[in-house]
Amino acid sequence: LKQETIEALIAANTHNEWDAVRVGTLGRSGKLTMLLRQLGQVPAEERKARGQELNRLRDELTKLIEKRGKEIEELALEARLKEERVDVTLPPPLEPQGLIHPISRTIEEMTAIFARMGFSVAEGPDIETQWHNFSALNTPDHHPARTEQDTFYLLDEEGQGEPRVLRTQTSGVQIRTMLGQNPPIRIIAPGRTYRADHDATHSPMFHQCEGLVIDKNITLGHLKGCLIEFLRAYFNKPDLPVRFRSSYFPFTEPSMEVDIGWSRKTGEIGAGADWLEVLGAGMVNPRVLANCGLDPAEWQGFAFGMGVERLAMLKNGIADLRSFYESDLRWLRHYGFSA
Ligand code: PHE
Repeated sequence: LKQETIEALIAANTHNEWDAVRVGTLGRSGKLTMLLRQLGQVPAEERKARGQELNRLRDELTKLIEKRGKEIEELALEARLKEERVDVTLPPPLEPQGLIHPISRTIEEMTAIFARMGFSVAEGPDIETQWHNFSALNTPDHHPARTEQDTFYLLDEEGQGEPRVLRTQTSGVQIRTMLGQNPPIRIIAPGRTYRADHDATHSPMFHQCEGLVIDKNITLGHLKGCLIEFLRAYFNKPDLPVRFRSSYFPFTEPSMEVDIGWSRKTGEIGAGADWLEVLGAGMVNPRVLANCGLDPAEWQGFAFGMGVERLAMLKNGIADLRSFYESDLRWLRHYGFSA
């Protein structure tokens, strides 16, 4: 039995195999247990010696089994350590990566182009005073832009004076910048804007990018050169036709809207005989300069404002304004940009 058990123990390589040997030897119906149980049938004169012999054998086998058990445990531990060893020279597994939303991407592109022309980025609050959003921009109290149809008014707060508004344009940042820093000024101000309007081509929240240049001897020529340069760079079309068309904004004089050439039929930018409006601009109204404490005899400037979604749609072939805000993953995977 001893020899047999030793061989079985050597053959056992896993905890389960070892356990089978243990139970088969020392278990309730194990071979040794059976021998001990049969002791009663042994003639009385042999019983004592036989009993002692079997007890010795049991001690011996118990020790052997325990020893092999420890060995198997150690082998298993070693195998596990080997398996779990970390190769620190391996490159880490790539995490799934998100994409840049077309609105963020468009603002980044605009910022990069204007940065090359020496502009820096300015900011203002989404919740704006009526003074910054309208009055200082020479927009009188009775102006239709102020009516509740277009403007979100906040509830009157005690001691806050006039109720504040969700800014309807980024032009208030012009005011904040002129009040906050001395000219020369060259800033763009991308950000969220809000108007109480909602249909296929209007969203109550959308994005604009404002621009402001203040310096001595700034002319309409600077405005035209700057915007032509920007539009050709943004659309990657060095020959893009650009047209300046007379318009009206309270805060610029003269004011203009800027069109680019495109084909109404194919939608292609820079081809065809049609014009498409892409931004508003003008020379900063002397009244606005004066409202900001700048002497119009000394300082002049130009300003412009454009719709971020509109420019993103034109460049990337996005048809529906509302798709920007739906967070549809299929849409985001299609129109998103890799970082
Ligand atoms: N704020 C104007 C708009 O929202 C755009 C604009 C900005 C026009 C600056 C002229 C100068 O339509």
